[in-house]
Amino acid sequence: MNLITVALFTFFSSNVVVARGFPGFFDSEFRKTLPCFKPDVEPSTAPSGAPSETPTQSPVVPAETLIIYATGDVPYSAVEAVGLMGQMQAVPSDAELVLHVGDIRRSTTTPCLASEYEAVQGILNQSTAPLLVIVGDNEWNDCTNTDEAYSFFHQYFAQFEKQWSSLEALVVRDPVYPEVFSLVQEGILVLGLNLVGGRVHNSTEWQNRLTYQANQVQERILDYWAETGDAAKVIVTGHADPRTRHAGFFTPFQNFVANTLNNRVPILYLNGDSHVYKYEPTFLNQSSLLRVMVRGGTVEAPIRIQVNLEVNTTDPSVAFTVLRNAYVW
Ligand SMILES: *[C@@H]1O[C@H](CO)[C@@H](O)[C@H](O)[C@H]1NC(C)=O
Ligand SMILES: *[C@@H]1O[C@H](CO)[C@@H](O)[C@H](O)[C@H]1NC(C)=O
Ligand SMILES: *[C@@H]1O[C@H](CO)[C@@H](O)[C@H](O)[C@H]1NC(C)=O
Ligand SMILES: *[C@@H]1O[C@H](CO)[C@@H](O)[C@H](O)[C@H]1NC(C)=O
Repeated sequence: MNLITVALFTFFSSNVVVARGFPGFFDSEFRKTLPCFKPDVEPSTAPSGAPSETPTQSPVVPAETLIIYATGDVPYSAVEAVGLMGQMQAVPSDAELVLHVGDIRRSTTTPCLASEYEAVQGILNQSTAPLLVIVGDNEWNDCTNTDEAYSFFHQYFAQFEKQWSSLEALVVRDPVYPEVFSLVQEGILVLGLNLVGGRVHNSTEWQNRLTYQANQVQERILDYWAETGDAAKVIVTGHADPRTRHAGFFTPFQNFVANTLNNRVPILYLNGDSHVYKYEPTFLNQSSLLRVMVRGGTVEAPIRIQVNLEVNTTDPSVAFTVLRNAYVW
């Protein structure tokens, strides 16, 4: 192996291929962690000829995929709480990230109690792989006391990355909406948003929040695309199954994908909310947009999303391989 091959081999052998953290949610500068390929000044010593005592490790196949498992709208009952616990404990070892796309409790007229959030936190703590939670309406705007519920969500779910140092280094929380996050994992941009279903209490607040996130998402994707070029792949995740009241986010987003990105970046929109599985290519009439809605509950295991890192494609069904019933628990 020549020096470059050795350097590349060492580089790809490390677990994190292109893990880059954002200096800040708004900051356009990515930190680069690529090794320097400059040759040594001194020549390497000649081979000894004698075999080494320990065998050389066989080459590690470079990571070509990022595997994410996703669930949502769970647990709604004591039975589902037990089921979710089992599912979290059995998350397969290929998982690099687990996403809960919101609604960690059943929507009811009963108050949203801290004890419920804590109990679900205890269940999600069991995940074998790093996990992040998206906010849903059942634990926020559909609660009796929305402000209290919002603070419970932040307390119990907006700092999940702190439990995994590998993830904590990558996740950047939005300064205005701490439940909103951004991370680049193995070269893939993942954006977790506050797009809830449920009640609109204050249409000004609702509209401001959607507009703010539409702008942030556009900035984020453009910065990321400038860095990654044809290899770009994006996951946008929010709780909501888009309806008319979400137009404040989805209309500018659709225009952005069509007219600014020209459908050149494959994007997966991952959501929950309606409790039916949906796999929808050409989402919003855009060839680069795929929408996947999780089934909800514990009827089936979290879906497995394989991001195919090394294919350069604008087709999201090639960039993302989605598998249902990927494991038993
Ligand atoms: C979940 O894990 C975190 C970090 O270890 C811990 O602080 C928290 O108390 C756990 N939650 C429950 C409900 O056990
Ligand atoms: C509605 O939200 C706006 C923007 O956050 C805020 O200025 C206004 O006071 C809110 N109105 C009510 C009635 O709470
Ligand atoms: C994919 O795109 C990246 C970034 O533009 C480029 O460096 C790489 O060579 C491309 N890979 C293939 C297989 O075309
Ligand atoms: C997609 O295209 C169809 C047919 O032109 C149109 O009826 C529909 O409103 C479009 N949907 C969106 C979200 O733009």
